Amino acid sequence: MASVITSIGNFLVLCLLCLSICQPFSSSKPDVLSEGSSLSVGEPEDVLSSPDGTFSAGFFPVGENAYCFAVWFSEPSYKNNNKAVVWMANRDQPVNGRYSKLTLLKTGNLILTDAGRITVWSTGTDSLSLTRLQLNDFGNLVLINSENVVLWQSFDSPTDTLLTDQPLTRYTKLVSSRSQINSSSGFYKLFFDNDNILRLLYESIEISSVYWPDPLLVSWDAGRSTYNNSKIAILDSLGNFSSSDDFTFMSADYGTKMQRRLKIDYDGNVRLYSRKNRGERWVVSWQAFSDPCMIHGICGANSLCNYVPSMGRKCSCIPGYKLRNQTDWSSGCVPEFDISCTKHESTFLQISSVGLYGYEYGIFSNYTLAECKNLCLQLCNCKGFQFSYVPSSGNFKCYPKTLLLNGYREQSLSGDLYLRLPQSFLLSKPNSLVEFSLNCSVQETKQLDRTYTQSTVKQSVKFILWFACGLGGFEVICILLVWCLLIRTQRNSGAEMGGYLLAATGFRRFSFAELHKATKRFSEEIGRGAGGIVYKGVLCDARVAAIKRLKEANQGEAEFLAEVNTIGRLNHMHLIEMWGYCTEGKHRLLVYEYLENGSLKENLSSNMLDWEKRFGIALGTAKGLAYLHEECLEWVLHCDVKPQNILLDSNHQPKIADFGMSKLLKRGEINNSSVSKIRGTRGYMAPEWVSNRPITSKVDVYSYGIVVLEMLTGKNPTTKFRELNATGETEHGKLVTWVRDKVNEAPEMETRLEKVVDASARGEYNVEKMKILLEVALKCVEEDKDERPDMSQVVKTLLPHENDH
Ligand SMILES: *[C@@H]1O[C@H](CO)[C@@H](O)[C@H](O)[C@H]1NC(C)=O
Ligand SMILES: *[C@@H]1O[C@H](CO)[C@@H](O)[C@H](O)[C@H]1NC(C)=O
Ligand SMILES: *[C@@H]1O[C@H](CO)[C@@H](O)[C@H](O)[C@H]1NC(C)=O
Ligand SMILES: *[C@@H]1O[C@H](CO)[C@@H](O)[C@H](O)[C@H]1NC(C)=O
Ligand SMILES: *[C@@H]1O[C@H](CO)[C@@H](O)[C@H](O)[C@H]1NC(C)=O
Ligand SMILES: *[C@@H]1O[C@H](CO)[C@@H](O)[C@H](O)[C@H]1NC(C)=O
Repeated sequence: MASVITSIGNFLVLCLLCLSICQPFSSSKPDVLSEGSSLSVGEPEDVLSSPDGTFSAGFFPVGENAYCFAVWFSEPSYKNNNKAVVWMANRDQPVNGRYSKLTLLKTGNLILTDAGRITVWSTGTDSLSLTRLQLNDFGNLVLINSENVVLWQSFDSPTDTLLTDQPLTRYTKLVSSRSQINSSSGFYKLFFDNDNILRLLYESIEISSVYWPDPLLVSWDAGRSTYNNSKIAILDSLGNFSSSDDFTFMSADYGTKMQRRLKIDYDGNVRLYSRKNRGERWVVSWQAFSDPCMIHGICGANSLCNYVPSMGRKCSCIPGYKLRNQTDWSSGCVPEFDISCTKHESTFLQISSVGLYGYEYGIFSNYTLAECKNLCLQLCNCKGFQFSYVPSSGNFKCYPKTLLLNGYREQSLSGDLYLRLPQSFLLSKPNSLVEFSLNCSVQETKQLDRTYTQSTVKQSVKFILWFACGLGGFEVICILLVWCLLIRTQRNSGAEMGGYLLAATGFRRFSFAELHKATKRFSEEIGRGAGGIVYKGVLCDARVAAIKRLKEANQGEAEFLAEVNTIGRLNHMHLIEMWGYCTEGKHRLLVYEYLENGSLKENLSSNMLDWEKRFGIALGTAKGLAYLHEECLEWVLHCDVKPQNILLDSNHQPKIADFGMSKLLKRGEINNSSVSKIRGTRGYMAPEWVSNRPITSKVDVYSYGIVVLEMLTGKNPTTKFRELNATGETEHGKLVTWVRDKVNEAPEMETRLEKVVDASARGEYNVEKMKILLEVALKCVEEDKDERPDMSQVVKTLLPHENDH
């Protein structure tokens, strides 16, 4: 009997022991971690929540069987289920997915141990009174004692993210992660420099360079002050960021309380992400760089960065160099040839419109090309030189480069790169730039090397086995052990994407009186749109503006401001530029640039456009719309694409007008499938509008297709048109059916074209070019929205034919 009792006693002891090792049955989410207790990896329940549930802290998977102790926004984005991590304890040393735990010791020290043995991270605190760890509603993980003194807090050691009301100080810095899938410390840093300026730094093993504020400007010219030594920057919940060096910005959605996080992304750009409601998608509401090629180190060494707003960033190796690592573009390119120091064997390859920042041997003014070549040949480590005309000094400057770094290509740049290559090499290789592009889609997680922990796992297993055998509860232990070992690891679904463009222009607020005066009391009407009447006006700085007066103020001022800020900061050569806005009482006005050449509508009806121009307009419009729909972030749906809304500049380049009206006029939510009011213009509207199907960017694609058909045929889709044929007069209801019928009648493409094209248009057309355009347009007007291409695909199809004649 006694032995039975001892057995039962042993059994209970074992159960307790096992509980303390694996903690499989711990109850509901603890909100506080008290002294002597711990959180274990792989336990879904072992997560600290903030009182309002916004934030969670626990073990976060960063690879297969690799975890970091982290704080994140509890609600993932509804679309991709990604959780936004805002802090990590051990980003550079992830722990094993088994037996690792975070323990608050009785001494007041908080330690993170890998597989029960190695201490990977600790706060190094000690306290005589009772301590506890809790996560507050700001996302701050704090260690406090019973007198409520903060011993340690995560806000004091940020990783790559600043939260609302979390100050960046002289003691803290943000460090980007290594890549989209690797959360260890990367190359980019945001910090206060010794001269009190908030800067961005690129720092790899070989190279370190500051790229923000613009290194070519002195701090004063960049709008920064070196005089305030307090070195503090803070973001408030409304979206106002202000730093003690006078740098400040307001988010595009300024004015509303939102969840916000300022993050230095792995690509070196600092972005402010915000979302209004939990579970919504994060939206970029500010970013430091609109041109990512200005970020140093972005494509690695010996490469050129090229940025096309509608297509994103492209990196390419300089001719003669090849990608160092196919899976890691940031490591740049390496030469395919042996660099020789002998003068006679080198030659130069000219690549135009290239700029390279830094790493010159010196700057040599008033040099001829021959002198510059000679200078480079004299220097053994000269990899090439940049040769540019400097208008201010009226002569050419020569910059021999010891390293080819931070290279970028831009059509508007006047400088040329003369690349030094071995003569034999240049003869054997075609001169081409090999492009490699960043992949926008989410990548797979990679497995971390976890071998070093295996022995410790084995040891703890041995220890438990020995102990279990000694007490005779072997089976029970085994069952529980198996249970413990079955803990599953989770896969990290990747990081979120960022990347829309935003340019700091002279965007501002106007007073009503100012605009009243500019338009001479709203006397010169130049157009009427869905939202209101457009007037011509002259601003006090003599710029001619188109001023749109919105009919009704359907929304509050804060909301209007938020939307107008978003729209006003969209900047693209094929979008009409918004200069500002006015909101006073019930008045809501928008101020745009004014284009002399009028709209596509007027130009088509007066037959001003030859085929070359029509193709250019089709391509430009596609680029503008592709930008609005922006690859990874569906930013703005236009919802009213038509020739009246496509304006032409002096070179007949199109600029899309009236975008964002759906946001400003607030007629129903776009994402809502039951949009009550139909938008757009008859003749150009996609079938989704009337059939109550979801409204996506494909409605703009449809309207675009109609506009292109209109340009091709010269026929107006809004009016029923008549046609004389052999059998008499027929009436066609729809432009699309008419074109389809004509196309189907003719077997050959050329005759098809002849049947549909606008006979009255001037000039010859290139058959190939028009064929592509007709095909694209017909694809765009498919009834089924999934059959239609998206705007960036349209751009990709048309772009190669731009210069065909
Ligand atoms: C932004 O914050 C700074 C510092 O708190 C303040 O001086 C400034 O007035 C704020 N700007 C706005 C528009 O609220
Ligand atoms: C320095 O900056 C801080 C924070 O922005 C501000 O409170 C303080 O007044 C500034 N000091 C001076 C001398 O301008
Ligand atoms: C390329 O980069 C990946 C990821 O950083 C790394 O795992 C791999 O070993 C590298 N390959 C080479 C050849 O350096
Ligand atoms: C540039 O050099 C030429 C000849 O070497 C000289 O005549 C000319 O004055 C120089 N120009 C300047 C701006 O120094
Ligand atoms: C981007 O990555 C995805 C998944 O890794 C792959 O399927 C796709 O082909 C890649 N796209 C490009 C343009 O490399
Ligand atoms: C992440 O980056 C670090 C630092 O470059 C590297 O040591 C580590 O191997 C990388 N991890 C993975 C999974 O590529």
